[in-house]
Amino acid sequence: MKKKILVTGGTGYIGSHTAVELIAEGFDVVIIDNLYNSEAEVADGIKMISGVKPQLEVLDICDRSKLDVFFEKHHDIAAVIHFAAYKAVGESVRKPLEYYHNNLMSLINLLGAMKQFNINGLVFSSSCTVYGQPEVLPVNELTPWQPAQSPYGNTKQIGEEILMDTTRADENIKAIALRYFNPIGAHPSGLIGELPRGVPENLVPYITQTAYGLRDELKVFGNDFNTPDGYCVRDYLHVVDLAKAHVVAVKRLLEGKTKSSYEVFNLGTGTGVSVLEAIQSFERATGVKLKYKVTGRRPGDVEKIWADPSLANTELGWKTVSSLDESMLTAWNWEKNIRGKKS
Ligand code: NAD
Ligand code: WQD
Repeated sequence: MKKKILVTGGTGYIGSHTAVELIAEGFDVVIIDNLYNSEAEVADGIKMISGVKPQLEVLDICDRSKLDVFFEKHHDIAAVIHFAAYKAVGESVRKPLEYYHNNLMSLINLLGAMKQFNINGLVFSSSCTVYGQPEVLPVNELTPWQPAQSPYGNTKQIGEEILMDTTRADENIKAIALRYFNPIGAHPSGLIGELPRGVPENLVPYITQTAYGLRDELKVFGNDFNTPDGYCVRDYLHVVDLAKAHVVAVKRLLEGKTKSSYEVFNLGTGTGVSVLEAIQSFERATGVKLKYKVTGRRPGDVEKIWADPSLANTELGWKTVSSLDESMLTAWNWEKNIRGKKS
């Protein structure tokens, strides 16, 4: 009998790639998504890759009564992966209440429903944003948090605190928070990928849209930072590598292998890459020359951050395998594919 995993936000960017990997590992996947930032057709893309179309229940997790109806129908869920959230940092500064409401109510409702329906394992999408600009690099899981730089970042810090308190209070519930660094790229099939609405805030979708001709040029936010080449440094990991970590985490929960009721893992490559190096990688991998111009700094940007992923490497047996160039190439193939379909 296949174990059924609930993937909230499963038609979104990381959720859809995770659904593919879960199906490949023999899990039954049911998705909840309100399609705020994704489209129902993503489930068809998942089917084209995996051969199985996951069930998609379109509902808002902030609606507890609808969530309860969902769990009454799917009473056999073995574990939950909770991706659903709003994620645009800049928008969260303009609309803090929407971000606090959506990201925190959804988590609270989900945990309440899990308790009610006796579902005990949760994997939570956290973020390197909880660290702010750390004093020591690379960051490991014990690196102290800096004050959140945005309401979005604050929802991830508070979300983790909610999980710490909930798992402390209820010994049945176990949670694993995965702190992603910068996920990029798309499935190598080109059938699923990132679909930012409007003007992208993140670097790689901005690069691919510029290369495609949808944007005039990439604005690089500063090259006067205290880094080797002056550009900001991040830890970019391929979304398929990231998706696979979720399968490992779910198995760890289901097999009762967690060492405490609340665990945290950094998910990154362990290598810092500058914006300039990222641009060069894109150009090398795709053969496309990118138009870009260095402009002023983006307010609130962290100067440099990259992960110490050794806990995930040793404890989860997980590490990234895709190179930056491979990630850039898949992002580019996805961009071409999706624009071809939309034009
Ligand atoms: P995404 O926007 O592509 O996917 C999130 C999905 O959740 C969307 O399909 C959206 O429609 C859905 N959703 C949002 N609120 C909902 C609600 N109340 N009820 C039901 N569905 C809802 O985002 P993503 O990039 O796949 O990110 C997934 C998770 O990972 C988020 O929690 C995000 O904060 C976290 N994260 C993302 C990144 C990144 O760079 N992409 C980095 C670190 C952490
Ligand atoms: C990367 C680098 C920019 C766009 C964000 C969130 C973080 C996490 C990951 C969810 C930076 C530079 C970007 C552009 C540029 N998400 N850049 N021109 O800032 O590391 O993190 O996504 O949890 O919370 O804050 O990612 O992709 O926005 O930027 O020069 O048009 O690219 O300055 O150095 P970031 P990003």
